[in-house]
Amino acid sequence: SELIDYKNGQFHIENCDVESLIERFSSPLYVYSKGQILKNWREFQQYWPAPHKLCYAVKANSNLAILQLLAEHGAGFDIVSGGELQRVLMAGGKAGDVVFSGVAKSKDEIIMALEAGIGCFNVESEAELERIQDIAAAMDKQAPVSLRVNPDVDAKTHPYIATGMKANKFGISMSLAKPVFLKAHSLPNINLIGADCHIGSQIMTAEPFLDAAQRMFNLVSELEKDGVQLTHLDLGGGFGVAYQPEEPLDKSFYLKELVKLAENYPQITLVLEPGRAITADAGVLLTTVEYIKPSEDKNFVLVDAGMNDLIRPSLYQAWHDILPAHENKRGGDQLNDIVGPVCETGDFFGHARHLNVQQGDVLAIKHAGAYGFTMASNYNSRGRPPEVLVSGDNATLIRERESFNDLVRGEHLLHQEGQ
Ligand code: LLP
Repeated sequence: SELIDYKNGQFHIENCDVESLIERFSSPLYVYSKGQILKNWREFQQYWPAPHKLCYAVKANSNLAILQLLAEHGAGFDIVSGGELQRVLMAGGKAGDVVFSGVAKSKDEIIMALEAGIGCFNVESEAELERIQDIAAAMDKQAPVSLRVNPDVDAKTHPYIATGMKANKFGISMSLAKPVFLKAHSLPNINLIGADCHIGSQIMTAEPFLDAAQRMFNLVSELEKDGVQLTHLDLGGGFGVAYQPEEPLDKSFYLKELVKLAENYPQITLVLEPGRAITADAGVLLTTVEYIKPSEDKNFVLVDAGMNDLIRPSLYQAWHDILPAHENKRGGDQLNDIVGPVCETGDFFGHARHLNVQQGDVLAIKHAGAYGFTMASNYNSRGRPPEVLVSGDNATLIRERESFNDLVRGEHLLHQEGQ
C-alpha cells in the first residue's frame, strides 16, 4: 500500500517515518494507518449496497479507537464475547448492529447481550438454542437468532483457521440443520431471523465462498418450503490478504456475485463479517535490533519484540514481510533469522531474510494490524506494546504500553514481607 511504504528511502506510515515514531513512543510499537483502515472499509462498502450489512469482526483488532472509527463510518460488529460487546458499546457502536458469534456463549454473556439488545445471536448448537430460550423467557424477551450451519466446503487455508468442514467444531452440519431450524421457529422466546456460516479465514479465492453461499441460499429455499421464512443470511468473514507477493483475493468480484445471487431472494438481507481484510495491511509492528549474533551460515538478529507481541509466525508458520527503516539496508547477501527475546525456539518473526542491519536499527513487521495486538500476551512478564494511530502527519497514542503494575494488578502475595 502506498500509505505504508518507503518515502525518500525511509519507511513511513502515512507521513510519519518509523524512526521518529519509535523515538516518540519507544519500542516495540504497533502503528496503524487510519487512511488504510478507511480505504479497506470503503472498498467493502462500495460493492455492498444497502440493506446488506457489514459487521467488522472485532477479534481482528479491538482497540477502542479503531472500533470508534469504524462505528463512525457505519460499521456493525461481529463479536465473540461479553468483553467484545462492552468494547463495541464503549466505542459508540449500536447494539442493534451487533451479531454475536462463538461456540460456547456463557449464561452471563447471553444475559448481557439480551439486555443490550443485540441484533442477532449466531447460534452454534441445539443446546445453545435451548439455553438462549430459557434465559430470554426468564427475562421476558425475544432473542433474535440465526443458526450457524457448517456447509462442509474446503476453504483451502491453514488447518487451524479452516472452520467450515465436517471435521470442525463450528456450526450445525448441513444434513442435521433442518430440524433445528424448525425447533427454533417454534420456540416462544426465539425470533428466528436467519442462517449464518463462516468457512475459515485467510481465504484467497472466491470459489469456496461462492460454493458456501450457494449452499446457504439453497437452504433458505428449502426452509421456505417448510414454512420458515428467513430474512437474514450472514456469510461470515475470511477474506484473505496478500502477506506475500501473491495474487490477491478479488473482493469486488466476490461481492458483486453475492449481490447478484441475492437478487433472487429479495426478502434476504446479507451480512458479512470481515476482520483481517479491514485491519491487517493497515498495521505494522515496529521493533528495534538489540543484538546481532553471527552463526556459521546466518546471523541471528535479536529484536525487542517477541512472540508474545505477535504470535502469528510461531502459531501458524505465517510469513510476514520484515523491512528495515532505511531502504538501502534491504536485500544483500546476508541471511538473517529475525528472532525475539522470549525463551522459546518458536519465538521468531522470519527465517533466512536478506537484510543488512545493525544493532539499534528499526524494523517494520508488516501486515500486523489484524490478529497482532489482540493475540498478544504477557508471557515472560512482558508488558504489551503501545498502539498508535497515524493520520497524515499526526500520530495519536491509542493504547499505552503496559507497565509492571498493570502486569501484577489483581495478584496477591501470600503474606507481606516480615509477617
Ligand atoms: N466471523 C467468524 C465467525 C469468525 O470466526 C472469524 C474469524 C471472522 C468472522 C473474521 O474472519 P477474518 O475476516 O478476519 O478472516 N488468528 C488467526 C485468524 C483466526 C480467525 C478466527 N475467526 C490468524 O491470525 O490468522
